[in-house]
Order: sequence, then structure tokens, then C-alpha cells
Amino acid sequence: MPNYAYTCRIKKDKLDKALLRLSPNQGFMFTIITGAQFGDEGKGKIVDLLAKDYDIVARFQGGNNAGHTVKAGDEVYKLHLIPSGILLDARVLIGPGVVLNPEVLAEEIEMFEKHGIKVNAEKLGVDAKTSIIMPYHIELDGLKEAVRETKIGTTKRGIGYAYIDKVARDEIRMAELVDREHFLARLEELAPQKEKEIEAMGGDPKIVRDPALIKRYLELGKQFAAYVTDVSREINQALDEGKNVMAEAAQGTHLDVIHGTQKFVTSSSTIAGSACANLGVGPKRVDNVIAIVKVYITRVGEGPLPTELTGELGERIQKAGGEFGTTTGRGRRCGWFDLPLLKKAIALNGYTEISLTKLDVLTGLDPLRICVGYKYKGKSLDYPPVLTEELQECSPVYEDLPGWKEDLTEVKAYNELPKNARNYVERLEELMKVPINYISVGPGRAQTFKKED
Ligand code: GDP
Ligand code: IMO
Ligand code: MG
Repeated sequence: MPNYAYTCRIKKDKLDKALLRLSPNQGFMFTIITGAQFGDEGKGKIVDLLAKDYDIVARFQGGNNAGHTVKAGDEVYKLHLIPSGILLDARVLIGPGVVLNPEVLAEEIEMFEKHGIKVNAEKLGVDAKTSIIMPYHIELDGLKEAVRETKIGTTKRGIGYAYIDKVARDEIRMAELVDREHFLARLEELAPQKEKEIEAMGGDPKIVRDPALIKRYLELGKQFAAYVTDVSREINQALDEGKNVMAEAAQGTHLDVIHGTQKFVTSSSTIAGSACANLGVGPKRVDNVIAIVKVYITRVGEGPLPTELTGELGERIQKAGGEFGTTTGRGRRCGWFDLPLLKKAIALNGYTEISLTKLDVLTGLDPLRICVGYKYKGKSLDYPPVLTEELQECSPVYEDLPGWKEDLTEVKAYNELPKNARNYVERLEELMKVPINYISVGPGRAQTFKKED
């Protein structure tokens, strides 16, 4: 069916949107999924849930600072690099905008193999231009964070320094990693500069040319040679053939390196537009942009969080939601739902629908608070101020809603939710002005239902 994509596109405009939403397989060719808050919204869970309808799932930015959890039956998979569509039939791709630690990729593949899931070059592709995280990036990341007067709270995975090298055109790319001679030559060229930098920051420069590490990287290069591909070409060809492609973000909107809460951000662009730029797909091909939104908010690391709950209540949500970092194990800071930040996320991403996660975690809290605006220097704001320093000074203005006591984890349909839970969801939808498609009430695959059914 070579022209299916285009016939579908034409028909789609004439169809009822609600009908299309019920059947995402008809007409939704290229879907982008991003986190609408500060990460850990449940992207892994929702991508896994939707991946059955997609032929390709591609990660477009970030690296193994991400931790996406997929629970399938009794197994829990924590994915840092491999897209969360891996457990379904989709081909999974790692795009050129990702920074890739090959050791972590090898560990992830091994983890799947232990669970009887074969990951080979037919299943997984890595773009030839994907930047490689080298041991010296990790070293520099740690050294820099140690001397920062105001910490960012980085994951110390070398992400920032790998991106610095990409932009400085000093990166080692996947195509070079898998080519022994090129890899060694490139390392030789870059080593003096890296050694100087590490030494200047008080570190041990020996890590740059450590023979054991070089040997290991060469082995990894050999292991991954067959995986090298052209992600942009694969995706564009798939779309031309009428196949469905999903782009999976890492981190969250407000950690975006351009539009986030600088300097407390990650080093890549985490918003929907970045999927097009990083995967090499034209913006006119995007059909659908899905937000993953947690019914409260969390943040790992430093930076403003206007609705943060520091006392007993914060701890209660942290415990009930299992809010501990998937990558670093750090406790996540928790707060009430923050509408101004969500409005900004909607503007930055152009969301067409929202998947709401972790509704079950709010059981037993009464009242439930929604931050509908801020007070900033005596003024009322309904949208975040542009600067991080200003956001830091904002205090939340709340609207209170009644809570519920019932456990939600066994709920299978929207109309089975207690009335106050439905009220809460509907109020959020009314405030966000974007339709909610799915609601999640637990980590498992069965603990999700459509809002419209
Ligand atoms: P991601 O980084 O956005 O993929 O999110 P993480 O996997 O880091 O964190 C989300 C955590 O919440 C994981 O442990 C999920 O298994 C879990 N989770 C996802 N959805 C729900 C839900 O609706 N309810 C509960 N209780 N847990 C959920
Ligand atoms: P997922 O994809 C939550 C945070 C770190 C730190 C800041 C910069 O699981 O949602 P970095 O190591 O990227 O230089 O750290 O960004 N951070 C995340 N927080 N979820 C993530 O990923 C994150 N990835 C990075 O905690 O504050
Ligand atoms: Mg996570």
C-alpha cells in the first residue's frame, strides 16, 4: 500500500476528530510523545501501551540520564536508552540527537536477553551520527558539578559534556565507534584537549587514554557495527509507506535546554519540535502530539518548583507514588498540580491530547489542590514568568477540590471512578483545554483506560 499515508491524510481532514481518536491506527502516522513537566511523568508506561499501533518507535534526544519504566506482567524494565516500544513488534531506533553510552546500551541488551527478549539489528537501529558518551565526558560532568557554587543536580552521566562536544564538532559518532581505525584516530586527535581540560579541573587525565577503557570501547564498537543506520531515512520511508511512527522524548518540557528553567535543565531540547529536528522529519508530517502529564508534579535535582510540598504531605505523595529516581535513586521532590507550567508546556509542544498518569496516588488526600496561578511581587500571574529567578519567587494560588478515599488501582473504565476523581480529571481537562485520552491508575498495562469509553 505505497500511497496509504497520503490517502489517509486527505481523508483525515474530513473525519470526525473524536472518531479518529478512538482509532489511533487510522490516520495517525507520526506521533510525538513528550513529558509535560520535569520528567518521570510515566512516558515509558504510555509509550509501551500505545506502541502496539506503531511500526517504529524512536528516541530523539537525551541519553542515559533518562529512566523509563515499563511494567509488563510481573516484569519491570527500566530503560535508559532503548525506546519503550521494544516489548512490542515495533522496530526501535535511537536517533542522531541522542548521546549514547555504549556500555549502557550493552547492559540494556543483556538485561533483555536475560528475560528471553532478543535484541538484534533487525529490532534496534542506531543512527550513524549519534554522539558517543566517552568516559572523559562522565569525568568532566562530575568535576564540573563539584565546583559549581549553585548545583544543577545532574545525573553525572556525561550528558552535558557529550552535547558540548557535539556542538563544538568534537564528538565521536556511532559510525566512528564501530570503525576501529577511525575511532583510534579520532581519540588521538581529541585526547590532548580532553586531558588538559580534566587536569585543569583537578581530575585525573589518565582516564582519556586508559587502555582498558579503549579496549572495551573497541569491543563495543564491534558488537554494535550491524546496528548502524540512517534514522531519518528509515522514518521518512516508513511514513511514505503508510506506516506509523512514534517519537519518544526523554526528560520533560521544563528541562528543555532552550525553553526550560535554566540553568536547572538538561542539555537537549525535550519538546515536540525537537523530535522533527533531531529525527530529520519535516514538521508537516506530524499528526499528533501527546503530552504525558502526572496529576501532581515532581522534580529530581535542583531548580524552582512553586508547588513543592516539603513536609509530611510531600513525603506521603513521594511514598505513595514511588517517587524515587529510576536512574539515580534520588528522592523526587513532589508538589501539587501546577497549571501555569502546564499551560506553558501546551504552548511549547502544541499538544493535541493528554495522557494523565498516577491518579491512584492521590487517593486519601483531601482537599486536592490545583495551582491555578501565581503571586509574583504582588501581581497575579496565570502563566510562568520568563526567567527562572522570577519563577523561583512565585507563590502558588490554589483552587481546592474534594478528594476521594477509594482505591483506584483496580478501576477499568472511566465511569467506574469515584465521582470526585472524575470531577478532578474533568476540572484539569477544562483548565488545560486539551482533551484527555488515557488515564492511568497504576504502573501495569491493565491499569489504563480511555476517558471517552
Ligand atoms: P518516565 O521517565 O516518564 O518514563 O517515568 P518513570 O518510569 O521514571 O517514572 C514513572 C513511575 O511511575 C514508574 O515507576 C512507573 O512504573 C510508575 N507509574 C506509571 N504510571 C503510573 C500510575 O498511573 N500509577 C502509579 N502508581 N504508578 C505509575
Ligand atoms: P526521564 O526521561 C527527571 C534532571 C536531573 C538534573 C537535570 C540535569 O526519566 O523523565 P543531566 O544529567 O541531564 O545533565 O541533569 O535534569 N533529569 C531528569 N529528571 N527525569 C529525567 O529523565 C531526567 N533526566 C535528567 O535530575 O536536575
Ligand atoms: Mg524517568
